[in-house]
Amino acid sequence: MAKRTHSALSAASSPFRGRDIGIDLGTANTLVYERGRGVVLDEPSVVAIDTNTGKVLAVGAQARQAVGRTPGSIMATRPLKGGVITDFEATEGMLRYFIRAVRDGKGRGRSPRVVVCVPSGVTGVERRAVVQTADRAGARSVRLIEEPIAAAIGAGLPVHEARGSMVVDIGGGSTEIAVISLGGMVVARSVRVAGDALDSAIASWIEREYTIAVGERTAEEIKMSLGSGEFVPVRGRDKHTGMPKVVQLSPEEIGEAVERPVRSIVAAVQAAFEECPPELYGDIMERGMVLTGGGALLHGLDERLMKETGMPVTVADEPLGCVALGTGRCLEEYDKLESIFAA
Ligand SMILES: Nc1ncnc2c1ncn2[C@@H]1O[C@H](COP(=O)(O)OP(=O)(O)O)[C@@H](O)[C@H]1O
Ligand SMILES: [Mg+2]
Repeated sequence: MAKRTHSALSAASSPFRGRDIGIDLGTANTLVYERGRGVVLDEPSVVAIDTNTGKVLAVGAQARQAVGRTPGSIMATRPLKGGVITDFEATEGMLRYFIRAVRDGKGRGRSPRVVVCVPSGVTGVERRAVVQTADRAGARSVRLIEEPIAAAIGAGLPVHEARGSMVVDIGGGSTEIAVISLGGMVVARSVRVAGDALDSAIASWIEREYTIAVGERTAEEIKMSLGSGEFVPVRGRDKHTGMPKVVQLSPEEIGEAVERPVRSIVAAVQAAFEECPPELYGDIMERGMVLTGGGALLHGLDERLMKETGMPVTVADEPLGCVALGTGRCLEEYDKLESIFAA
């Protein structure tokens, strides 16, 4: 009895407890941060579904293996595209699976409170859908936090100060650009051009120039190899002859292939500056912008942004983990950061 009183008290004074989790629901990767432990799960946002029964067969890395390789009765999908949820059922299945995976082996404790990070471009309807999804996936309560704010906190920017901090988060489906001051976004832009757009630009470029069809995973590998500075062999079926063909792509060719989406990202960053109040613009001239998200690792993107905006640009230490770490910080300091939650 005494024990129960105690736990009720501590629950009241500290709304978030042990098993509470923060979820970076990304279009490419979902990361789960567990309060007091750190990032405990990092998996691709992919679900494999049996199309006959609608059952979720696999989630995460296991499901990703199946992308582009599934027989007719299995569909491997990415339930988020362009920074929004495009398949609600699959998203729910994925979230439920991840929440269970995190809770596994810890007895039956109370279901966790959950903070989910959403892209700033999502609409009210989509936000409610995220909350509902996490709710039905087994969360006790759900709060939302804007992705650029989480990314900025995770990158160590002083978002609470009366000073402009700028973050450019380049994920799989969207690029989120924000200027943050006093814990809020003064400028926020979201464009649906990011890692995926780079991949498909590479695939169509190869198809056009060399008449070879390549899948999205191959295109992504080519993109990631850009940093090596070496030629990349590309294998596939020649669409004209029907025969196998191998070509060697130079880094210059890959650069040419991604030029259009890169230009769109640069243009979006430039447009954000046009909306930026003068004082904050001055702050950013001094301190620069920080790139987060996996797309921040695209070789040469930081220099390109520096050249075209005239601003200092740095890549965050762990660009792929920033949003999850920032969401985690909000869990750890829930009371202090209350004002940051979007809903
Ligand atoms: N070294 C790299 N070079 C270029 N792009 C990369 C690199 N590493 C990861 N990416 C890209 O980052 C994207 C995933 O980033 P992430 O921040 O996890 O996205 P999201 O938040 O949308 O899930 C993918 O498009 C992936 O191809
Ligand atoms: Mg992200």
